[in-house]
Amino acid sequence: MQSANDVVTELVRRQMSDINWRSGRSFLHMHHGGSELERVSNAASQLYFGANASARTSLPSLLELERDVIDSASGYLGAQPGTVHGVVTSGGTESIFLAVKAARDRALRRSSRNAVQRIVIPVTAHPAFDKAADCLGLGVLRVPVGSDYRVDLERLVAELTAETILVGLSAPNLPFGLIDPIEEVATVTRSRSIWLHVDACLGGLFLPFLSHVARLPAFEFSVAGVDSLSVDPHKYGYAAKGISLLLLRRTLALPRFQSDSWPLGRYETEGLLGTRAASPLASAWAIFRFLGREGLERAATDVWRTLGALTAGVRDLGCDVLLEPDGPILCITAPQPTETRAHMLRAGWYLGLIRSPPAMHLTVNLAHCDAVEPFVTELGEALKRRNG
Ligand SMILES: Cc1ncc(COP(=O)(O)O)c(C=O)c1O
Repeated sequence: MQSANDVVTELVRRQMSDINWRSGRSFLHMHHGGSELERVSNAASQLYFGANASARTSLPSLLELERDVIDSASGYLGAQPGTVHGVVTSGGTESIFLAVKAARDRALRRSSRNAVQRIVIPVTAHPAFDKAADCLGLGVLRVPVGSDYRVDLERLVAELTAETILVGLSAPNLPFGLIDPIEEVATVTRSRSIWLHVDACLGGLFLPFLSHVARLPAFEFSVAGVDSLSVDPHKYGYAAKGISLLLLRRTLALPRFQSDSWPLGRYETEGLLGTRAASPLASAWAIFRFLGREGLERAATDVWRTLGALTAGVRDLGCDVLLEPDGPILCITAPQPTETRAHMLRAGWYLGLIRSPPAMHLTVNLAHCDAVEPFVTELGEALKRRNG
Protein backbone atom coordinates (compact mmCIF):
# COMPACT_ATOMS: atom_id res chain seq x y z
CA MET A 1 0.00 0.00 0.00
CA GLN A 2 1.09 3.59 -0.62
CA SER A 3 -0.01 6.75 1.18
CA ALA A 4 -2.35 9.14 -0.66
CA ASN A 5 0.47 11.69 -0.83
CA ASP A 6 2.89 9.19 -2.33
CA VAL A 7 0.33 8.10 -4.92
CA VAL A 8 -0.24 11.68 -6.05
CA THR A 9 3.48 12.46 -6.03
CA GLU A 10 4.10 9.47 -8.25
CA LEU A 11 1.40 10.58 -10.67
CA VAL A 12 2.92 14.05 -10.85
CA ARG A 13 6.32 12.44 -11.54
CA ARG A 14 4.87 10.27 -14.29
CA GLN A 15 3.23 13.33 -15.88
CA MET A 16 6.65 14.96 -16.28
CA SER A 17 7.15 13.07 -19.54
CA ASP A 18 3.84 14.41 -20.94
CA ILE A 19 3.54 17.46 -23.18
CA ASN A 20 2.67 20.59 -21.20
CA TRP A 21 -0.75 21.06 -22.80
CA ARG A 22 -2.08 23.54 -20.24
CA SER A 23 0.51 26.04 -21.47
CA GLY A 24 -0.45 25.54 -25.08
CA ARG A 25 2.26 23.09 -26.13
CA SER A 26 -0.15 20.60 -27.67
CA PHE A 27 -2.18 21.37 -30.79
CA LEU A 28 -4.17 18.13 -30.66
CA HIS A 29 -6.56 16.29 -28.35
CA MET A 30 -6.75 18.72 -25.40
CA HIS A 31 -8.64 22.00 -24.97
CA HIS A 32 -7.73 24.16 -22.00
CA GLY A 33 -9.64 27.28 -21.05
CA GLY A 34 -7.30 28.50 -18.32
CA SER A 35 -7.03 27.98 -14.57
CA GLU A 36 -10.27 29.78 -13.64
CA LEU A 37 -12.39 27.63 -15.97
CA GLU A 38 -10.58 24.55 -14.74
CA ARG A 39 -11.43 25.46 -11.14
CA VAL A 40 -15.13 25.85 -11.98
CA SER A 41 -15.10 22.58 -13.91
CA ASN A 42 -13.28 20.71 -11.13
CA ALA A 43 -15.63 21.96 -8.41
CA ALA A 44 -18.69 20.84 -10.40
CA SER A 45 -17.09 17.52 -11.37
CA GLN A 46 -16.15 16.83 -7.77
CA LEU A 47 -19.77 17.25 -6.61
CA TYR A 48 -20.80 14.45 -8.97
CA PHE A 49 -17.73 12.25 -8.54
CA GLY A 50 -18.87 8.63 -8.57
CA ALA A 51 -22.40 9.55 -9.72
CA ASN A 52 -23.79 7.58 -12.64
CA ALA A 53 -25.48 9.77 -15.24
CA SER A 54 -27.87 6.88 -16.04
CA ALA A 55 -29.37 7.10 -12.53
CA ARG A 56 -31.99 9.61 -13.59
CA THR A 57 -34.71 8.37 -11.24
CA SER A 58 -32.61 8.45 -8.09
CA LEU A 59 -30.62 11.55 -9.11
CA PRO A 60 -33.25 13.84 -10.64
CA SER A 61 -30.82 16.79 -10.55
CA LEU A 62 -29.02 15.12 -13.46
CA LEU A 63 -32.14 15.29 -15.59
CA GLU A 64 -32.28 19.02 -14.95
CA LEU A 65 -28.62 19.45 -15.83
CA GLU A 66 -29.15 17.50 -19.06
CA ARG A 67 -32.16 19.58 -19.99
CA ASP A 68 -30.31 22.84 -19.28
CA VAL A 69 -27.22 21.84 -21.26
CA ILE A 70 -29.30 20.64 -24.21
CA ASP A 71 -31.44 23.79 -24.17
CA SER A 72 -28.44 26.12 -23.96
CA ALA A 73 -26.59 24.38 -26.79
CA SER A 74 -29.75 24.24 -28.97
CA GLY A 75 -30.24 27.98 -28.42
CA TYR A 76 -26.66 28.73 -29.44
CA LEU A 77 -27.22 26.58 -32.51
CA GLY A 78 -30.17 28.48 -33.90
CA ALA A 79 -33.06 26.32 -32.61
CA GLN A 80 -36.34 28.00 -31.59
CA PRO A 81 -37.29 27.06 -27.99
CA GLY A 82 -38.90 23.63 -27.77
CA THR A 83 -38.10 22.55 -31.34
CA VAL A 84 -35.04 20.39 -30.60
CA HIS A 85 -34.39 17.51 -28.23
CA GLY A 86 -31.21 15.62 -27.57
CA VAL A 87 -29.04 13.01 -25.93
CA VAL A 88 -26.01 13.60 -23.72
CA THR A 89 -23.21 11.27 -24.79
CA SER A 90 -19.63 10.47 -23.89
CA GLY A 91 -18.05 12.19 -26.91
CA GLY A 92 -18.37 13.19 -30.54
CA THR A 93 -17.88 9.65 -31.77
CA GLU A 94 -20.89 8.41 -29.79
CA SER A 95 -23.03 11.36 -30.91
CA ILE A 96 -22.23 10.66 -34.56
CA PHE A 97 -22.87 6.96 -34.04
CA LEU A 98 -26.30 7.74 -32.60
CA ALA A 99 -27.16 10.11 -35.46
CA VAL A 100 -26.36 7.40 -37.99
CA LYS A 101 -28.36 4.87 -35.96
CA ALA A 102 -31.34 7.22 -35.77
CA ALA A 103 -31.21 7.67 -39.56
CA ARG A 104 -30.82 3.91 -40.07
CA ASP A 105 -33.77 3.20 -37.76
CA ARG A 106 -35.92 5.68 -39.67
CA ALA A 107 -34.92 4.07 -42.95
CA LEU A 108 -35.81 0.63 -41.55
CA ARG A 109 -39.22 1.86 -40.42
CA ARG A 110 -39.87 3.32 -43.85
CA SER A 111 -38.66 0.53 -46.06
CA SER A 112 -39.07 -3.20 -46.28
CA ARG A 113 -36.20 -3.51 -48.75
CA ASN A 114 -33.04 -5.25 -47.62
CA ALA A 115 -30.62 -3.49 -49.97
CA VAL A 116 -27.36 -2.50 -48.26
CA GLN A 117 -27.85 1.10 -47.31
CA ARG A 118 -25.13 3.67 -47.20
CA ILE A 119 -24.07 7.05 -45.94
CA VAL A 120 -22.43 9.73 -48.06
CA ILE A 121 -19.75 12.00 -46.54
CA PRO A 122 -16.93 14.21 -47.79
CA VAL A 123 -13.44 12.71 -47.66
CA THR A 124 -12.72 15.23 -44.88
CA ALA A 125 -15.38 13.85 -42.48
CA HIS A 126 -14.30 12.35 -39.17
CA PRO A 127 -13.73 8.56 -39.07
CA ALA A 128 -16.49 8.38 -36.44
CA PHE A 129 -18.84 8.07 -39.45
CA ASP A 130 -16.89 5.00 -40.66
CA LYS A 131 -17.07 3.46 -37.18
CA ALA A 132 -20.83 3.99 -37.08
CA ALA A 133 -21.29 2.49 -40.54
CA ASP A 134 -19.10 -0.46 -39.58
CA CYS A 135 -21.16 -1.20 -36.45
CA LEU A 136 -24.48 -0.73 -38.23
CA GLY A 137 -23.66 -2.67 -41.39
CA LEU A 138 -23.84 0.32 -43.72
CA GLY A 139 -21.72 1.27 -46.72
CA VAL A 140 -19.76 4.53 -46.79
CA LEU A 141 -19.13 6.69 -49.82
CA ARG A 142 -16.53 9.42 -49.34
CA VAL A 143 -16.66 12.28 -51.86
CA PRO A 144 -13.33 13.99 -52.77
CA VAL A 145 -12.52 17.66 -52.33
CA GLY A 146 -11.54 20.02 -55.14
CA SER A 147 -8.45 22.23 -55.48
CA ASP A 148 -9.95 24.62 -52.88
CA TYR A 149 -10.08 21.70 -50.37
CA ARG A 150 -13.87 21.96 -50.29
CA VAL A 151 -16.04 18.99 -51.12
CA ASP A 152 -17.06 18.59 -54.75
CA LEU A 153 -20.72 19.57 -54.36
CA GLU A 154 -21.88 18.32 -57.77
CA ARG A 155 -20.31 14.94 -57.19
CA LEU A 156 -21.78 14.67 -53.72
CA VAL A 157 -25.27 15.38 -55.02
CA ALA A 158 -24.76 12.92 -57.88
CA GLU A 159 -23.95 10.19 -55.34
CA LEU A 160 -27.30 10.49 -53.54
CA THR A 161 -29.17 7.34 -54.50
CA ALA A 162 -32.27 5.59 -53.14
CA GLU A 163 -29.91 3.64 -50.85
CA THR A 164 -28.56 6.80 -49.18
CA ILE A 165 -29.91 7.06 -45.65
CA LEU A 166 -27.76 9.92 -44.38
CA VAL A 167 -25.42 12.66 -45.55
CA GLY A 168 -22.86 13.74 -42.95
CA LEU A 169 -21.29 17.19 -43.29
CA SER A 170 -18.96 19.07 -40.95
CA ALA A 171 -18.90 22.54 -39.41
CA PRO A 172 -15.99 22.67 -39.66
CA ASN A 173 -14.07 19.55 -40.65
CA LEU A 174 -10.98 18.63 -38.65
CA PRO A 175 -8.42 18.33 -41.50
CA PHE A 176 -8.86 21.83 -42.99
CA GLY A 177 -11.20 23.71 -40.63
CA LEU A 178 -13.69 24.35 -43.46
CA ILE A 179 -17.48 24.39 -43.20
CA ASP A 180 -19.05 22.10 -45.79
CA PRO A 181 -21.75 23.52 -48.15
CA ILE A 182 -24.54 22.81 -45.70
CA GLU A 183 -27.27 25.08 -47.07
CA GLU A 184 -26.73 23.84 -50.62
CA VAL A 185 -26.82 20.16 -49.65
CA ALA A 186 -29.75 20.68 -47.26
CA THR A 187 -31.94 21.85 -50.13
CA VAL A 188 -31.36 18.57 -51.94
CA THR A 189 -31.50 16.18 -48.97
CA ARG A 190 -34.67 17.84 -47.72
CA SER A 191 -36.45 17.46 -51.05
CA ARG A 192 -35.43 13.79 -51.15
CA SER A 193 -36.06 13.04 -47.50
CA ILE A 194 -32.47 12.02 -46.78
CA TRP A 195 -31.25 12.62 -43.22
CA LEU A 196 -28.69 15.44 -43.00
CA HIS A 197 -26.40 15.32 -39.98
CA VAL A 198 -24.03 18.21 -39.30
CA ASP A 199 -20.96 17.26 -37.31
CA ALA A 200 -20.40 20.44 -35.31
CA CYS A 201 -18.36 18.59 -32.67
CA LEU A 202 -15.50 20.98 -33.31
CA GLY A 203 -17.33 24.17 -34.25
CA GLY A 204 -20.67 24.06 -32.45
CA LEU A 205 -19.47 26.10 -29.48
CA PHE A 206 -17.08 28.26 -31.50
CA LEU A 207 -18.57 29.30 -34.85
CA PRO A 208 -21.87 30.72 -33.48
CA PHE A 209 -19.93 33.32 -31.50
CA LEU A 210 -17.90 34.84 -34.34
CA SER A 211 -20.51 36.83 -36.25
CA HIS A 212 -18.89 40.13 -35.14
CA VAL A 213 -15.46 39.18 -36.57
CA ALA A 214 -16.16 36.84 -39.50
CA ARG A 215 -18.78 36.16 -42.16
CA LEU A 216 -19.36 32.43 -42.02
CA PRO A 217 -22.03 30.35 -43.75
CA ALA A 218 -24.97 29.10 -41.69
CA PHE A 219 -24.70 25.49 -40.56
CA GLU A 220 -27.11 25.10 -37.66
CA PHE A 221 -30.83 24.63 -37.09
CA SER A 222 -31.57 27.93 -38.85
CA VAL A 223 -30.92 25.94 -42.05
CA ALA A 224 -34.14 24.09 -42.92
CA GLY A 225 -33.13 20.55 -43.77
CA VAL A 226 -30.50 20.13 -41.05
CA ASP A 227 -31.97 17.19 -39.14
CA SER A 228 -29.39 16.70 -36.42
CA LEU A 229 -26.21 18.23 -35.07
CA SER A 230 -23.44 16.90 -32.84
CA VAL A 231 -21.67 19.38 -30.59
CA ASP A 232 -18.97 18.78 -27.97
CA PRO A 233 -18.82 20.78 -24.73
CA HIS A 234 -15.56 18.90 -24.07
CA LYS A 235 -13.89 20.73 -26.97
CA TYR A 236 -14.70 24.46 -27.31
CA GLY A 237 -16.94 24.42 -24.22
CA TYR A 238 -13.75 23.61 -22.25
CA ALA A 239 -15.65 21.10 -20.08
CA ALA A 240 -14.09 17.97 -18.58
CA LYS A 241 -13.48 15.35 -21.26
CA GLY A 242 -16.40 12.96 -21.70
CA ILE A 243 -19.37 15.00 -22.89
CA SER A 244 -20.95 15.60 -26.28
CA LEU A 245 -24.54 16.23 -27.34
CA LEU A 246 -26.59 14.83 -30.17
CA LEU A 247 -29.36 17.33 -30.97
CA LEU A 248 -32.29 16.41 -33.24
CA ARG A 249 -35.36 18.24 -34.44
CA ARG A 250 -38.31 17.17 -32.29
CA THR A 251 -40.06 15.82 -35.36
CA LEU A 252 -37.43 13.05 -35.35
CA ALA A 253 -37.32 10.21 -32.83
CA LEU A 254 -34.38 10.05 -30.44
CA PRO A 255 -32.25 6.95 -30.98
CA ARG A 256 -33.10 4.28 -28.41
CA PHE A 257 -31.79 0.95 -27.24
CA GLN A 258 -34.43 -1.18 -25.55
CA SER A 259 -34.60 -4.64 -24.07
CA ASP A 260 -37.29 -6.44 -22.15
CA SER A 261 -35.88 -9.90 -22.36
CA TRP A 262 -34.09 -10.37 -19.05
CA PRO A 263 -35.20 -10.88 -15.46
CA LEU A 264 -34.82 -7.20 -14.52
CA GLY A 265 -37.52 -6.13 -16.96
CA ARG A 266 -37.46 -3.12 -19.24
CA TYR A 267 -34.01 -1.66 -19.92
CA GLU A 268 -33.75 1.42 -22.07
CA THR A 269 -31.06 3.98 -22.90
CA GLU A 270 -30.82 6.69 -25.52
CA GLY A 271 -27.04 6.65 -25.68
CA LEU A 272 -24.83 3.64 -26.26
CA LEU A 273 -23.39 3.47 -22.75
CA GLY A 274 -24.93 2.05 -19.61
CA THR A 275 -22.98 3.52 -16.72
CA ARG A 276 -21.81 6.99 -17.72
CA ALA A 277 -19.82 9.46 -15.63
CA ALA A 278 -21.98 12.35 -14.42
CA SER A 279 -19.00 14.63 -13.72
CA PRO A 280 -18.47 15.80 -17.33
CA LEU A 281 -22.17 16.75 -17.50
CA ALA A 282 -21.86 18.76 -14.27
CA SER A 283 -18.67 20.33 -15.62
CA ALA A 284 -20.36 21.39 -18.88
CA TRP A 285 -23.39 22.73 -17.02
CA ALA A 286 -21.18 24.79 -14.69
CA ILE A 287 -19.08 26.21 -17.51
CA PHE A 288 -22.16 27.11 -19.57
CA ARG A 289 -23.52 28.99 -16.53
CA PHE A 290 -20.18 30.56 -15.68
CA LEU A 291 -19.38 31.80 -19.18
CA GLY A 292 -22.83 32.35 -20.65
CA ARG A 293 -23.15 33.56 -24.23
CA GLU A 294 -20.90 36.52 -23.50
CA GLY A 295 -18.07 34.39 -22.11
CA LEU A 296 -18.27 31.92 -25.00
CA GLU A 297 -18.15 34.85 -27.41
CA ARG A 298 -15.06 36.22 -25.66
CA ALA A 299 -13.40 32.80 -25.76
CA ALA A 300 -14.14 32.31 -29.47
CA THR A 301 -12.93 35.83 -30.29
CA ASP A 302 -9.66 35.26 -28.41
CA VAL A 303 -9.08 32.04 -30.34
CA TRP A 304 -9.92 33.79 -33.63
CA ARG A 305 -7.33 36.50 -32.86
CA THR A 306 -4.79 33.83 -31.93
CA LEU A 307 -5.34 32.15 -35.31
CA GLY A 308 -4.59 35.51 -36.96
CA ALA A 309 -1.46 36.05 -34.84
CA LEU A 310 -0.18 32.54 -35.58
CA THR A 311 -0.79 33.04 -39.31
CA ALA A 312 1.11 36.34 -39.29
CA GLY A 313 3.98 34.80 -37.29
CA VAL A 314 4.27 31.82 -39.63
CA ARG A 315 4.30 34.13 -42.67
CA ASP A 316 7.06 36.25 -41.09
CA LEU A 317 9.15 33.07 -41.07
CA GLY A 318 8.64 32.64 -44.81
CA CYS A 319 6.13 29.79 -44.48
CA ASP A 320 2.43 30.04 -45.24
CA VAL A 321 -0.93 28.57 -44.36
CA LEU A 322 -2.58 26.23 -46.82
CA LEU A 323 -5.92 28.07 -46.75
CA GLU A 324 -8.01 30.58 -44.81
CA PRO A 325 -10.00 28.38 -42.42
CA ASP A 326 -13.57 28.92 -41.21
CA GLY A 327 -12.78 27.27 -37.91
CA PRO A 328 -9.95 26.94 -35.38
CA ILE A 329 -7.56 24.94 -37.57
CA LEU A 330 -4.28 26.05 -39.12
CA CYS A 331 -2.49 24.03 -41.78
CA ILE A 332 1.09 25.29 -42.04
CA THR A 333 2.94 24.61 -45.23
CA ALA A 334 6.68 24.39 -44.68
CA PRO A 335 9.22 22.40 -46.66
CA GLN A 336 9.67 18.95 -45.07
CA PRO A 337 6.80 19.25 -42.57
CA THR A 338 7.49 15.79 -41.12
CA GLU A 339 11.05 16.68 -40.10
CA THR A 340 10.01 20.12 -38.85
CA ARG A 341 7.26 18.54 -36.75
CA ALA A 342 9.74 16.03 -35.33
CA HIS A 343 12.00 18.90 -34.29
CA MET A 344 9.06 20.64 -32.63
CA LEU A 345 8.23 17.47 -30.72
CA ARG A 346 11.80 17.19 -29.42
CA ALA A 347 11.47 20.81 -28.27
CA GLY A 348 8.23 20.03 -26.38
CA TRP A 349 5.59 21.06 -28.93
CA TYR A 350 3.05 18.55 -30.24
CA LEU A 351 1.53 19.24 -33.68
CA GLY A 352 -0.57 17.19 -36.06
CA LEU A 353 0.33 16.39 -39.64
CA ILE A 354 -1.76 16.38 -42.81
CA ARG A 355 -0.71 13.71 -45.27
CA SER A 356 -2.15 15.21 -48.38
CA PRO A 357 -1.08 17.87 -49.13
CA PRO A 358 1.77 17.60 -46.60
CA ALA A 359 1.34 20.27 -43.91
CA MET A 360 1.61 20.72 -40.18
CA HIS A 361 -1.79 20.76 -38.53
CA LEU A 362 -2.78 22.87 -35.52
CA THR A 363 -6.05 22.79 -33.60
CA VAL A 364 -6.02 26.14 -31.83
CA ASN A 365 -7.87 26.87 -28.58
CA LEU A 366 -7.69 29.18 -25.57
CA ALA A 367 -4.57 27.41 -24.29
CA HIS A 368 -2.65 28.87 -27.23
CA CYS A 369 -3.47 32.56 -26.74
CA ASP A 370 -0.27 33.15 -24.76
CA ALA A 371 1.82 30.67 -26.73
CA VAL A 372 2.07 32.45 -30.09
CA GLU A 373 5.46 34.04 -29.57
CA PRO A 374 7.26 30.98 -28.13
CA PHE A 375 5.68 28.80 -30.83
CA VAL A 376 6.82 31.03 -33.68
CA THR A 377 10.32 31.31 -32.15
CA GLU A 378 10.62 27.53 -31.88
CA LEU A 379 9.29 27.03 -35.40
CA GLY A 380 11.93 29.50 -36.61
CA GLU A 381 14.59 27.39 -34.85
CA ALA A 382 13.24 24.22 -36.45
CA LEU A 383 13.36 25.78 -39.91
CA LYS A 384 16.92 27.07 -39.38
CA ARG A 385 18.11 23.60 -38.36
CA ARG A 386 16.55 22.14 -41.49
CA ASN A 387 18.35 24.75 -43.60
CA GLY A 388 21.63 24.44 -41.67
C1 LIG B 1 -14.97 17.35 -36.48
C2 LIG B 1 -14.91 16.24 -35.46
N1 LIG B 1 -15.89 15.33 -35.39
C3 LIG B 1 -15.88 14.31 -34.51
C4 LIG B 1 -14.84 14.17 -33.62
C5 LIG B 1 -14.85 13.00 -32.66
O1 LIG B 1 -15.01 13.48 -31.34
P1 LIG B 1 -14.52 12.62 -30.09
O2 LIG B 1 -13.04 12.53 -30.18
O3 LIG B 1 -15.02 13.44 -28.93
O4 LIG B 1 -15.17 11.29 -30.14
C6 LIG B 1 -13.78 15.08 -33.65
C7 LIG B 1 -12.64 14.94 -32.76
O5 LIG B 1 -11.67 15.65 -32.84
C8 LIG B 1 -13.82 16.15 -34.60
O6 LIG B 1 -12.84 17.06 -34.68
